[in-house]
Amino acid sequence: MLENARRLLMPSLRSDVPPFIAMDVLAAAAKREAEGHRVIHMEVGQPAAPAPSTALAAARAALSGAYLGYTEALGIPPLRARIAQFYREQYGLALDPGRVIATTGSSGGFVLAFLALFEAGDRVAFAAPAYPPYRHILSALGCEPVLIQTFAEARWALTPEELLAEHRKKRLHGVVIASPANPTGTMMEASALRALIEAAEAEGIRVISDEIYHGLDYAFAAETAARLSPNVVVVNSFSKYFCMTGWRVGWLVTPEVLVRPIERLQQNLAISVPTISQIAATAAFEGREEMEAVKHGYEENRRILTEGLPKIGLDKFLPVDGAFYLYADVSRFTKDSFDFAKRMLEEAGVAATPGADFDPVHGKEFLRFCYAGSAADMREAVERIGQWVKKGAVP
Ligand SMILES: Cc1ncc(COP(=O)(O)O)c(C=O)c1O
Repeated sequence: MLENARRLLMPSLRSDVPPFIAMDVLAAAAKREAEGHRVIHMEVGQPAAPAPSTALAAARAALSGAYLGYTEALGIPPLRARIAQFYREQYGLALDPGRVIATTGSSGGFVLAFLALFEAGDRVAFAAPAYPPYRHILSALGCEPVLIQTFAEARWALTPEELLAEHRKKRLHGVVIASPANPTGTMMEASALRALIEAAEAEGIRVISDEIYHGLDYAFAAETAARLSPNVVVVNSFSKYFCMTGWRVGWLVTPEVLVRPIERLQQNLAISVPTISQIAATAAFEGREEMEAVKHGYEENRRILTEGLPKIGLDKFLPVDGAFYLYADVSRFTKDSFDFAKRMLEEAGVAATPGADFDPVHGKEFLRFCYAGSAADMREAVERIGQWVKKGAVP
């Protein structure tokens, strides 16, 4: 009897995933703001700019017009066709729209891709540091996340040798790669990406390429894994380059053989992606000029931080190639970046994310700053952190 009552109150073991700490920092920052304090948000990877005006106009027209019902589980045909056209424009790749699948952000894409590619118990690798939900989604789905430590000296890139060394210890079934990467902002050259994909596929390791930060590349143009192999699953989204986080719309490019299994999964898990978001996303591609202006703003922010932070003692980070993150080594100030971030929020009014979110081993010595806000905010952040450090708030 007591045992039954206890069971009724128990969440499943698979639901016991760690929190996404960046979201916890966001909540703490929001609380301080509600209490009347000034907070500069550099914790969550979210553009401050709105969606392209073409997307907003399409959404408004859709709202005042017809009934918004479910759509095809794979997405509305105009969106799938427009995404395929984008691959031709951006990468010179002729892509069959039949291989493009609309998803609820790339987050929804990961769930579909992992379910379609892996069995429970399969081992899926990725670089540490990395985007935390890779490991949390995989473990919630019963797969085993395998973190392969990478290092600043190698620009945080996973090499074929490191991947194969892990595979030799115990078979890997998949690998998730990201370029530009979160939290480091580093990118892989096309040749390095190709070498990694070839090494993985030769061993039967399936590759998922997270390309959510494509478009936000400053050092050189990002290469799509879809051009390098027909077997890779590409995950992408309208959240970052197109400034549409809250619209929850993204896409997959998958091998043909996965289209029908993913369609069946999507039918059952979500039915379809929000209709209005698909309509807006289709029109977003016509707003790229506006988005390029937003990107130039990030480039300016990047300059403010890469020039300003070293002057106040935060000088250990790599030149950031892409995305809108700077991953700073703060070990000269602290061995506990969680506590450092908490005090920086409370005492300097700047919210950043502790590295432990991205790298459970070495992350305690790092902080991730997101520079997707305004240039004025970036300048103020450097000023505030500088004052705080000078006051001796940091031991
Ligand atoms: C590397 C990476 N992948 C995926 C996502 C998920 O984004 P969304 O679900 O909004 O497309 C994020 C969000 O920050 C990210 O940084």
